[in-house]
Amino acid sequence: MLKLVGGLLLAGLLTHILGWYSTIGSRARLQRRHFVNDRGPVLGSELSNLFWAVQVTDIHVSKFLDPLRVTEFEAFCMESLPVINPALVLATGDLTDAKTKDRLGSDQFEDEWKVYQSVLKKSGILKRTKWIDIRGNHDSFNIPDLRSIKNFYRKYSAWQKEGSFHYVHDTPFGNYSFICIDATLTPGPKRPYNFFGIIDKEQMHTLSRLAMESHYSNQTVWFGHYPTSTIVSVSPGVRAVMSSAVAYMCGHLHTLGGIAPVLHSQHKQGTLELELGDWMHNRRYRIFAFDHDLFSFVDLVYNDWPAILITNPKSALYSNPAQEPTRRILHSTHIRILTFSTSPITSVRVSIDGSELGEASLSSGPLYTLKWNPDNYQTGIHEISVVVQDADGRSQTRSHLFSLEDGISLGFPLIPSLILLTDHYILAQVLFFLSVLSQIILLIIFRYKRRPILRGPQGFIALTSFSMHVLSKTNLFFYSVLLLSIYTAVGPWFVGEIIDGHIGVCFAFGVIVGGNFVQGSLTYFVAITQMVFFNVPMTAYLCWCLFLRCKGHGFCSHFRHSRKIVCLPVYLFVILIFAWQVYSCIFLAMTYGTLAAFLSPMSDFGIECEGICLRF
Ligand SMILES: *[C@@H]1O[C@H](CO)[C@@H](O)[C@H](O)[C@H]1NC(C)=O
Ligand SMILES: *[C@@H]1O[C@H](CO)[C@@H](O)[C@H](O)[C@H]1NC(C)=O
Repeated sequence: MLKLVGGLLLAGLLTHILGWYSTIGSRARLQRRHFVNDRGPVLGSELSNLFWAVQVTDIHVSKFLDPLRVTEFEAFCMESLPVINPALVLATGDLTDAKTKDRLGSDQFEDEWKVYQSVLKKSGILKRTKWIDIRGNHDSFNIPDLRSIKNFYRKYSAWQKEGSFHYVHDTPFGNYSFICIDATLTPGPKRPYNFFGIIDKEQMHTLSRLAMESHYSNQTVWFGHYPTSTIVSVSPGVRAVMSSAVAYMCGHLHTLGGIAPVLHSQHKQGTLELELGDWMHNRRYRIFAFDHDLFSFVDLVYNDWPAILITNPKSALYSNPAQEPTRRILHSTHIRILTFSTSPITSVRVSIDGSELGEASLSSGPLYTLKWNPDNYQTGIHEISVVVQDADGRSQTRSHLFSLEDGISLGFPLIPSLILLTDHYILAQVLFFLSVLSQIILLIIFRYKRRPILRGPQGFIALTSFSMHVLSKTNLFFYSVLLLSIYTAVGPWFVGEIIDGHIGVCFAFGVIVGGNFVQGSLTYFVAITQMVFFNVPMTAYLCWCLFLRCKGHGFCSHFRHSRKIVCLPVYLFVILIFAWQVYSCIFLAMTYGTLAAFLSPMSDFGIECEGICLRF
């Protein structure tokens, strides 16, 4: 009965969560702002009320790895960007790699920054366009404070301003706000405890002020390095503060090693969250445009010409009716397409729902237009498809769904929504404390229960219950396991050079360094790994040893018997978790200095426990 109720509850919860994620982007719930009687300019055949820009992210200029990364980035600045001719370029962090040769340690290298700066200078791109480059977590590794000589961003970047800011792109047809959200850590610990960004109270105040300022602009885009799911923030949270933005553009997660090639979703307030794949390995970049205040974008791969961006009719999936005057599509006279290529464009063919509409003709610059009658598509969802050919014989196709009806809802896929919209650090925190708590409660229950909870047939559960019973009743083991659990949660894990010259202490709930407390985030994930790969298997192994003891087997005597087959994997397993602890020590030494390996009670404690077990 209890199981049934539990199962039902769990199922209910799961459906609720999945439902929540999949209704994100349900247009119906979004209130249209003030566009009902919109009398804005009409989308026609002229190159007007339109500008476009480029985003590139996670460049990771490295002095040790992959020189092609820089060579191609230089070619991108010298050849691709002049073809696109963007109004501005956003470089959203991780400009340099800042990892040591072994790829475990981290430090700021002046050489990497010099290379980055020389690419910008040599290519002449800074004279052609506005270049806004901001810091990522890699650009803040090992920086005790912003005035430090190690903060090369201040010396070698184009923008040279840390902190969140508001930049207004001023055009004859309107003002467009770009708000940067700088969640990098100050002081900046070395990796890996520098994966999550933080927005504290003061920064949240600044962000609210910037959001207010942007209300005078036609449209607002927010950008930053970290996706909102990797920012630890005070209330009301970063998603709420950017709710008047049409989109938030970021980087940081790359493509998750190929698992998530497209990471786009939408906040429940309507803001699109658009992570862009990295330049580092995937050579991604993005062209985005505001055409008559309608936002559109396309994610591209370097040197894949011709590039196509359909700005009218814009994609139904990527629309934010709360902020965009989407009605303008219905009153438009022309389909509008931006195309770019290194050689002349020879044809731009347009079709809707599979039937050819004709060839778009050059308006001016990169804009091609084709007369259409939107009334033919008033209801339902339609697909527009554009094929572009250039003089080099290269051809590309781009298509998307559009709709002219109010309240049409298209949802984003579940996986990207899970990755971008979950507050992972809160989830990890809750999971970790629940697992510690349940382990402690279990131990105490078994200690004060008179008999093993389950008797009867010698099933797996009965055997586990029996050995837990023995373990909890033996003082040495009971207190060791209890202490291990409590220590994982509250004790310092290690003391080390979290920043060069600054000794810090790491706990499950955060890192203390240079008199600052950096709130825990990744630490909870490490804590969960420690529970899963050490605390739990160690306890299981102890149970198993005790069980054999009670059954009258000596520690090794069973090797001579038929039990060999069971024992061998168990010993292998124990050696593996032992190796894991040793690896942890080596890892600490590589990342936070030799001191960390020696002053790491957590790993030492682990090895000690292991010792007790093996002796036993
Ligand atoms: C853009 O901002 C400037 C300065 O704040 C202001 O004078 C101008 O009227 C604005 N333009 C539009 C079209 O809103
Ligand atoms: C930008 O806003 C101004 C003021 O509201 C408006 O007159 C103008 O038409 C808008 N620009 C576009 C492209 O819609």
